[in-house]
Amino acid sequence: MRDLSAETRIGLEALGLRIGRNGGTLLDVPRLVFDGPGPTLILGPNGAGKSLLLRCLHGLIKPDAGQVRQDGAPLGPAQKARQAMVFQQPVLLRRSVAGNLDFVLRRRGMVRATRKDRIAALLAEGGLSDKARQSARSLSGGEAQRLAILRALATEPDILFLDEPTSALDPAATLAIERMVLRASAQGVRIVMVSHDIGQARRLAADAAMMQGGRVVEHGPASEVLETPKSEAARRYLAGGLIL
Ligand SMILES: Nc1ncnc2c1ncn2[C@@H]1O[C@H](COP(=O)(O)OP(=O)(O)O)[C@@H](O)[C@H]1O
Ligand SMILES: [Mg+2]
Repeated sequence: MRDLSAETRIGLEALGLRIGRNGGTLLDVPRLVFDGPGPTLILGPNGAGKSLLLRCLHGLIKPDAGQVRQDGAPLGPAQKARQAMVFQQPVLLRRSVAGNLDFVLRRRGMVRATRKDRIAALLAEGGLSDKARQSARSLSGGEAQRLAILRALATEPDILFLDEPTSALDPAATLAIERMVLRASAQGVRIVMVSHDIGQARRLAADAAMMQGGRVVEHGPASEVLETPKSEAARRYLAGGLIL
């Protein structure tokens, strides 16, 4: 079991991250540090650069400049192996529900008997125990996303990135995902989650960042960012207005 103390959490830093395309700047993040306890939510309008930032942090996109550091070390294979990512559309294998989890555990070198117990525990965690033998492709959207999160958690990541994991889901399915995210956070997994749902940010975030035009316009304790934002852009976004 993980140590729950905040001090043991793996910190994440984006230093001087820049992505430019076609003469424009898609991402410009001089310094962004995630080191506090509890989930970080990244908010902002479509096109703000939220997904780009997450992909950079996870090493899926190499920035034109800058560096991601994880617990003080530059992002390399060892660091990436401690990260997992969940996307808006769950990416599942054409196997049974249990088979999707078994694949990950086997790749991690877990022996069969241990895998069986671990799969049972994971399925219970995601409320999918009765679907173990069903094809993953037959799951509902919410169930499929729960399985995608379980698969990510099966790798025992230090950091879990989630890119709008509930934006295609109804409120009940969304709440089920939010409960899983909060449990993982309580168990010591650093959560960095993109959302455009301010209500969701209020329910989950300890820490919040607001993006606009490829920049982080606000970052701090969620209570401050969501209730008393300093920037005009954040105030208008929270008020439901358009950022022009
Ligand atoms: N690979 C790419 N090449 C060029 N432009 C991109 C690429 N990926 C994203 N963009 C652009 O970068 C901006 C930010 O995109 P994205 O990070 O997906 O926004 P968000 O997730 O906040 O909605 C958008 O203008 C998008 O069109
Ligand atoms: Mg996006």
